Amino acid sequence: MCGIVGAVGHDQCGAVLLDALKRLEYRGYDSSGIVTLHGGKIDLRRAVGKLVHLEATLAARRLDGNVGIGHTRWATHGGVSEDNAHPHVAANRVSIVHNGIIENHRTIRKRLELAGYEFASDTDSEVLAHLFLEAFDAGLDAVRATKSILAEIEGAYAFAILATDYPNQLIVARNASPLAVGIGDEACYIGSDALALAHLTRKVIYLKDDDFALVSADNVAIYQSDGSPANRETVIVAASPGIVDKGGYRHFMEKEIHEQPDAIAHSLAAMTDNKGQLTATMQVDDLRAITGIVMLAAGTSHYATQVARYWIETLAKVPVVCEVASEYRYRNPVASAFSTAVAISQSGESLDTLMALRHASSCGLHTIGLINVPGSTIARESDFVLPTRAGPEIGVASTKAFTAQLTVLLSFAVALGKAKGTIDTERAAQIHSQIQSLPGLVGRALSLFDTIRPIAHSLSQARSALYLGRGTLYPLALEGALKLKELSYIHAEGFASGEMKHGPIALIEEGLPIVALLAADEIMAKASNNLREAAARGGQIILITEERGVNEVDFVNTVITVPNVDPLLAPILLAVPAQILAYLTAVEKGTDVDQPRNLAKSVTVE
Ligand code: F6R
Repeated sequence: MCGIVGAVGHDQCGAVLLDALKRLEYRGYDSSGIVTLHGGKIDLRRAVGKLVHLEATLAARRLDGNVGIGHTRWATHGGVSEDNAHPHVAANRVSIVHNGIIENHRTIRKRLELAGYEFASDTDSEVLAHLFLEAFDAGLDAVRATKSILAEIEGAYAFAILATDYPNQLIVARNASPLAVGIGDEACYIGSDALALAHLTRKVIYLKDDDFALVSADNVAIYQSDGSPANRETVIVAASPGIVDKGGYRHFMEKEIHEQPDAIAHSLAAMTDNKGQLTATMQVDDLRAITGIVMLAAGTSHYATQVARYWIETLAKVPVVCEVASEYRYRNPVASAFSTAVAISQSGESLDTLMALRHASSCGLHTIGLINVPGSTIARESDFVLPTRAGPEIGVASTKAFTAQLTVLLSFAVALGKAKGTIDTERAAQIHSQIQSLPGLVGRALSLFDTIRPIAHSLSQARSALYLGRGTLYPLALEGALKLKELSYIHAEGFASGEMKHGPIALIEEGLPIVALLAADEIMAKASNNLREAAARGGQIILITEERGVNEVDFVNTVITVPNVDPLLAPILLAVPAQILAYLTAVEKGTDVDQPRNLAKSVTVE
């Protein structure tokens, strides 16, 4: 992951780069650093931990200079320490920031060490600094040096180089990791995404894979990896709301849970035409051409695909498989069985999902990106985009993006079913009107905080928990368990409740908390039998269900109810109390809710 930034031509370089890093902290928060060139000399500040520590370092010793680069790190190679924090500096002449992984760094490092280059960190990234030093020592200019280094390194990268030999420019390059160049009035900037530069400029050039560029205050010269010049379009990105604040909530996650009625309403609006008809903003012929779908995603987004499979197969009779993106890409899948790949990603930057999408595309599949961040790499590379309009999601744990994804996926299933003739206009309109009631229903579910607080208090004492669901609520059980473990560090597993008797039921002992998700659907009686079996063995059931589900499960004491809802919509509505439970349990445990340990918001390494 990691976030990189750079500026050239701006007098307040240190301050501007710190601001830009604040917008990228979602990409990692193990350490951070900024380097500038001042009076021909490299000046470096780094700090371990969150950006506030770097901010304090800069307040104590400010950084001058009008060219600089900065970094916020999610550790991959080498532990969390100041030595491993970026920027890395070689011989006080070359400094680098890097996002990605240089896969052949060991071989390169060995070669450079034999040649006398001294390393100061355990990172893969530091080889870049010494490679540039070596190339400059050999008399190569910036273009020839970069070209030869790109030919040697393997892996994913976006990097920026600041060198005393080229005091008025930055050298930048990318392959598979995102990189945007911002064009200001008297300065140019670089950032891992355009959001990082939103306080500086809206004019942005996105480099393509294997591009590199020499960026100076008044010029951006772009090259392909063979050294031939390239032209890349300058785009105007949408105005950003600036650094998003917590709006009076204690955590971004709490705020984002509360933003779900809006996120759902805006995402639904994006799926309808100006007559209010659900069209998925695709032509009917494009929808009709879809004969089989492979869904590609990671983490919470992957669980959204698993819910969608039920909807699409039921409503549109189109076969769907859901693939964990990191597995799909590398197991030579028989892609030809499907016409279409749908990549689902909040960030639009998850490298696993991007690589899976590219693989599907190279196998001849049409691609659809279901993306929350406009202009992100997956959005740009997909044939069609179905946007979620959840707005910036800052808390590391996905909440409003998940329910927005589900809303768009259900709307897509309806539009597809209509185009295919598997549901008639009347049924489509009926489901559409149900979906339109979601913002209101979710709004009512938000009043559950006080009900859930004491339940979260006792859950916070547990060492382990199970989540159970059937049908569309099975993926929701997986998602609920993920939320609990990533936020409160309590071990949690999700299971299909019908599968318990085939093995996992052995885990149940007296007092084990079991979060059970239950909807009033055709499988309800069987699902409640499964819960009875778990309760009979000492499981403490925490039931999350609709009001009418309560009578079905009279053997349970702890019940969280949401308003009655059409079974199709149940996974969206029941997601809300599951999120609140995980959130409040983490608050009880005092963990870092918005930035849990070892995680980052946007995962741009494979
Ligand atoms: C968990 C969570 C992650 C993401 C996953 C994919 O709460 O947020 O599991 O869902 O890293 O991220 P995107 O959707 O940005 O591709």
